[in-house]
Amino acid sequence: MKVRLQQRENRVGDPSVAQGFGRVATSSPPVFDPGSELDKAYAFFVDHGYVVLGNCLDAGEISHLNEFYDRTQRERPDTWGLSERRKPHHRDQGLIFSQPLLDYPELDIYTRHPASFPLVAELLGGRDRVRFSEFNFRETPKDAGVGAMNFHHDAVVADRFERAPYMPCDWLCAIHYLTDTAPGTPAFCVVPGSNHYATLQEAFEGLGDAYQEVPIYGAAGTCILYDTALFHTRCDGDGHKRRRTWHQYYARGGWLPSSLPASDRYVRPPTPVLTNWNLFPERLALHPDPEVRMFFSHWNTAQCEWVASGFSDAVRDSMPRGNQ
Ligand SMILES: [Fe+2]
Repeated sequence: MKVRLQQRENRVGDPSVAQGFGRVATSSPPVFDPGSELDKAYAFFVDHGYVVLGNCLDAGEISHLNEFYDRTQRERPDTWGLSERRKPHHRDQGLIFSQPLLDYPELDIYTRHPASFPLVAELLGGRDRVRFSEFNFRETPKDAGVGAMNFHHDAVVADRFERAPYMPCDWLCAIHYLTDTAPGTPAFCVVPGSNHYATLQEAFEGLGDAYQEVPIYGAAGTCILYDTALFHTRCDGDGHKRRRTWHQYYARGGWLPSSLPASDRYVRPPTPVLTNWNLFPERLALHPDPEVRMFFSHWNTAQCEWVASGFSDAVRDSMPRGNQ
């Protein structure tokens, strides 16, 4: 029998904007050391679809990235949606700088960050199988109010319910907190194990007593890795405190045999492109090091056209987020 439960009202009292079933975890998830607990962190991810890593950025990196926010918000407010022209694709969800890698080589060192990358590589089937998808910066500004994001999953591949084994996953997202996150600030929130369900309702019914909504708090430098098939949201804080996060998506590259019985044998192709708009700059897409080129090899059709144009500014300017 299908049981349909009332979803709870969100904090602004609008029942049409649901933020889950309200079964919020009372304890915090474990935090793993990325250097010494890689195997444990991998096992936790396989069981739950996400994992939290502590102290992935040092004080200098946290300071650099926050200074980057301050500098670019001052010098290029349009890129953050801080001008009159609010970004239609990100209305009510705070600020976002969608493509900071395009013009800022100072960020290249973060694209395979040494703290989290070894686990990213394990989760995607090996260092040579990791591909870059997207890199952006987001901010919930001070006194932003509440945006009430719904639980959702990001991009998914249809075979995820049938393939064996499930791992490696198709896409991974790494969220690094760049400011301290605690009760009262917006927080990333996951439903552990929900990556094996098509809807949140099915996850609620299928997971039974194990169903939980887990807000993740942590100091600046905390990194959360999650399977993009996992249901997640941003829990609103008190509407006043600021939060900054760096989001990077990785995909799985190469062709992968399945271990299904011979009669059902199939191979998994490289993960499709994540978006139709994300661009990789020439210095990375055509990097002299073949390993870096392979990392940046998942081009969408917009990228193909930009490459064919010789990375023309006019072509880039014609694209919806070419300068955001
Ligand atoms: Fe998402």
